[in-house]
Amino acid sequence: METIASPPRLAKAAYSSTTGECIVDERRLDWEGDRRLCKFGKRKGKMNSLDLLSSRRSIREFKARELTRTEIESVLEHAVAVPNHRLTQPWRFYVMGPESRRAFGLVLGGRKARKLENSAAAEALMQKVADEHASLPCMIAVAILQNENPEIREEDYAAGMMAVQNIAIAAVAVGLGTHIKTGAVMDDPGAREAIGVADGERVIAMVNVGEAAVVPAAKPRRSASEVTRWMA
Ligand SMILES: Cc1cc2nc3c(=O)[nH]c(=O)nc-3n(C[C@H](O)[C@H](O)[C@H](O)COP(=O)(O)O)c2cc1C
Repeated sequence: METIASPPRLAKAAYSSTTGECIVDERRLDWEGDRRLCKFGKRKGKMNSLDLLSSRRSIREFKARELTRTEIESVLEHAVAVPNHRLTQPWRFYVMGPESRRAFGLVLGGRKARKLENSAAAEALMQKVADEHASLPCMIAVAILQNENPEIREEDYAAGMMAVQNIAIAAVAVGLGTHIKTGAVMDDPGAREAIGVADGERVIAMVNVGEAAVVPAAKPRRSASEVTRWMA
């Protein structure tokens, strides 16, 4: 066990979707007072479910390759497998092509540009955000049907977010990465139009999916034991 003073950084998993092999560079972190103790290890073998959970990162830089319909469908098939009280199956997925991504990006960029006084700078920002969205390998808007009953509505939101989580984990399993995004833009009428979301549905997350160009290091987190109380 090596003691380090700086926060943990490296936690990389290289995964081959063809052979199912993965090499995980691990730093297992334990706390001892305010010191982080770090253990290095290297494992080679099939990626198991726990590796999938621990190697998922929010991916902000994707390779340019557009995803195939088969790849996207294989991920979404796992999204609908989540627990769901009353089996309401509230989720609806909108796989956005380059045109709808650009339209969404223009709305998002427009919202960001509101803070700018210079109109040329505002226009440039809008176009930049639109271009960034148009060039994503894949973007999926996840929506849920809005139930009239508040209790069911809350349960459905939870189940919808679990579907989002399954998208993120299934993506890792097939050698892809995701970035989940939310925000007020999801309720913007222009964004809703770009997505094509139906009336009576609420957009709960925008998920970028693709082959990761850069897999960031794990961010430091509090351990579960720190935030767990064991009751008699
Ligand atoms: C519900 C939800 C909403 C999020 N919204 C955003 C967002 O709007 N913008 C963003 O950059 N990241 C967003 N993220 C990603 C988080 O910032 C990210 O998960 C966090 O920084 C931890 O990094 P990691 O996912 O690599 O572990 C969101 C994540 C979740 C679960």
